[in-house]
Amino acid sequence: MTALIRTYPIQTPRLYLRQFMITDVPRAYDNWMSDGDVAEFLTWEPHRSVEETERTIRNWIFLYEAGTMDWCITLKHEPIGSITAVQDFPGKGYCELGYCIAKDHWGKGYMTEAVRAVTGYIFQNTDYTWIQARCDSENHGSKRCLEKCSYRHIADVELPSEKRKGEIRIYQMMKIDRRDMIRM
Ligand SMILES: CC(C)(COP(=O)(O)OP(=O)(O)OC[C@H]1O[C@@H](n2cnc3c(N)ncnc32)[C@H](O)[C@@H]1OP(=O)(O)O)[C@@H](O)C(=O)NCCC(=O)NCCS
Repeated sequence: MTALIRTYPIQTPRLYLRQFMITDVPRAYDNWMSDGDVAEFLTWEPHRSVEETERTIRNWIFLYEAGTMDWCITLKHEPIGSITAVQDFPGKGYCELGYCIAKDHWGKGYMTEAVRAVTGYIFQNTDYTWIQARCDSENHGSKRCLEKCSYRHIADVELPSEKRKGEIRIYQMMKIDRRDMIRM
């Protein structure tokens, strides 16, 4: 396989975003991956063992050479969260952001800083013409974070949540176009 590395380090005013390393496993498990409150609006269940976190992180590391974008968010060398650009839409010209941060660090502006930096990075380093994100309609912090990064609400979609046994949830689709970057 020819390597197509896309996850390069990003420095923000307070954070350093970089590729995951296998040594991040214990801190990632303790800090956010085992936390049910962090996972509440996400597609995955909180991890019940450190081995589960290890499998996830090993997979992310394995896939870097295929051009995935999965950053470990660090604060003073401590892994505190993750931010991912899902690229499952070949030929469609966009990718979709997903992110989470350890509960101890909520409400300090960190994810706004990370989303803003990753959005700029994607437009500078890929050909994607827009980036989207979807938030559960009860996930007010996530929506506000995206709005602060110039994402606009484009639609509400009703989708069954696999995690909630098919319960229909309303998701707010948020989007930023390449041309909007100038307003960031
Ligand atoms: C949602 C999440 C990413 C926000 O990260 P964060 O670093 O706490 O967000 P920020 O501090 O950058 O805050 C961004 C804005 O949202 C607001 N906000 C944050 N949490 C909020 C909440 N629970 N309710 C309402 N507003 C909230 C902040 O006040 C800020 O707005 P303001 O500057 O106008 O006051 C974080 O809470 C998280 O990781 N949650 C669990 C995982 C998750 O839901 N991920 C998103 C999936 S779509």
